[in-house]
Amino acid sequence: MPKKFYITTPIYYVNDLPHIGHAYTTIAADVIARFFRLKGYDVFFLTGTDENSQKNVEAAKKVGMPIKKYLDYMAKKWKEAWKVLNISYDYFIRTTSAKHKKAVLKFFKTVYNHNDIYLGSYKGLYCVSCEAFVTKKDLDHQGRCKIHKRKPIMISEENYFFAASKYRKKLLKLLKRKGFVLPEKRKKEVIKYVEKEFGDISITRYKAEWGITAPINKNHKIYVWFDALINYLTAVGYGWNEKMFKKYWPADLHLMAKDIIKFHAALWPTMLMSAGLELPKTIFAHGFLTIEGHKMTKTLGNVVDPIKLAEKYPVDAIRFYLFKHIGFGEDGDFSEEALKNTINNELVNDLGNLVYRVLSLAEKYGYAKLGKKELEKKLKLKKIEKHLRNYELHKALKEIWNFVKETNKYINVKKPWKSKKAKEINYNLLEALRIISILLYPFMPSTSLKICKQLGVKLGKWKDCKFKRFEGKIKKGEYLFKKVK
Ligand code: MSP
Repeated sequence: MPKKFYITTPIYYVNDLPHIGHAYTTIAADVIARFFRLKGYDVFFLTGTDENSQKNVEAAKKVGMPIKKYLDYMAKKWKEAWKVLNISYDYFIRTTSAKHKKAVLKFFKTVYNHNDIYLGSYKGLYCVSCEAFVTKKDLDHQGRCKIHKRKPIMISEENYFFAASKYRKKLLKLLKRKGFVLPEKRKKEVIKYVEKEFGDISITRYKAEWGITAPINKNHKIYVWFDALINYLTAVGYGWNEKMFKKYWPADLHLMAKDIIKFHAALWPTMLMSAGLELPKTIFAHGFLTIEGHKMTKTLGNVVDPIKLAEKYPVDAIRFYLFKHIGFGEDGDFSEEALKNTINNELVNDLGNLVYRVLSLAEKYGYAKLGKKELEKKLKLKKIEKHLRNYELHKALKEIWNFVKETNKYINVKKPWKSKKAKEINYNLLEALRIISILLYPFMPSTSLKICKQLGVKLGKWKDCKFKRFEGKIKKGEYLFKKVK
């Protein structure tokens, strides 16, 4: 039986269309999912939409659409975006689905039966855009939410609370576990938050207009985060397919940006502890993208639409650029100029020319099917795999690229066009390209398949990343990438 790997992205709010920030997380998850598939894992890759948020309701009103119709329309739009970006998700979850509702009710009742839900009263400031209660430190000097520049509302009502603080000790132990929160530097920040601020949390809203009705009181709707997090259970069968649930749960990796790490690394584990379910293996929070040095906001008008971008540049180039040039885990800047440079230099020169050159040489001077494996020592496969398993995508890509460069160097040094050993040299080059097609597949799946086609081979698995007999039937094709202005 192959090992399983369950990976998730956040489920995104549909008050707007996806931008490059959402695409960044989703492509990262796709890269990781594709890598584990190459490794032979039984991968379950989940993404979807968070539909029970008040801000979606506001967005629907703004465009004058009935909420349900609006949500259907937007979910379709998000799916379309992921199709354009070649996202190989296995399941797309919508929190307004019947399956999810059933799962949430089951979960809520379980936690309630474990005496972890009680009625209390709440008075405090709530930011609808954050979908969270805020305190003074979250507000600017004008009393607006620092992130959304929006005034919070005062809420004073009777609410049901989740007794998260019962699990604080256990949570702190979990947070200290190596590899639970990644990158390591985020760990401290979450621990500090749990020690200083984390406590029982209100999980229903009295007479809210949208959301899942609490099973214990029909006047209350379940708080959107308490509902949303459960999507990770729903998707793999919680409440509707026990066999599947047993197979895939717990999640191996919850991926997101740093903005929502607290919900995932603090609230979520305590919910699972209360429900008596296993805990996810890793919560990984990457950094935030800025655009040409600025925060991406509607007011600045600099929101980058990944679909429009993909109309101008090859999707693989966008995917590649995001992980070659931004340290995964760090904040990073997106710039169109840098993207163009990446295309013109790394993709056209380093990779595209390499493939064209090797195919030309092999067609002209012939190639051996086997020979001395001269290039093999330049391939740092273990290192690449280690980086990918640590989710250090930029480091993996850098190492893969070193191999691309070494292969280029090998041509220049060996000069097959005037060597007696041309066939053996070309054998090394063709095998190097075949291996490169596998290594690059998680990042640039269509480009990899194009390389395979020219080599006349099927895309290999990770275990095929070693020099062996070259079995392809080569046929030179077009250049992989064209220069852009
Ligand atoms: N609906 C919640 C998540 C619930 S998960 C149980 C939510 N949705 S969101 O639409 O606001 O998405 C937030 C996520 O979008 C971030 O964690 C990150 O994955 C991605 N990003 C949004 N803006 C981003 C950047 N500027 N840069 C990088 N990632 C960004 O929160």
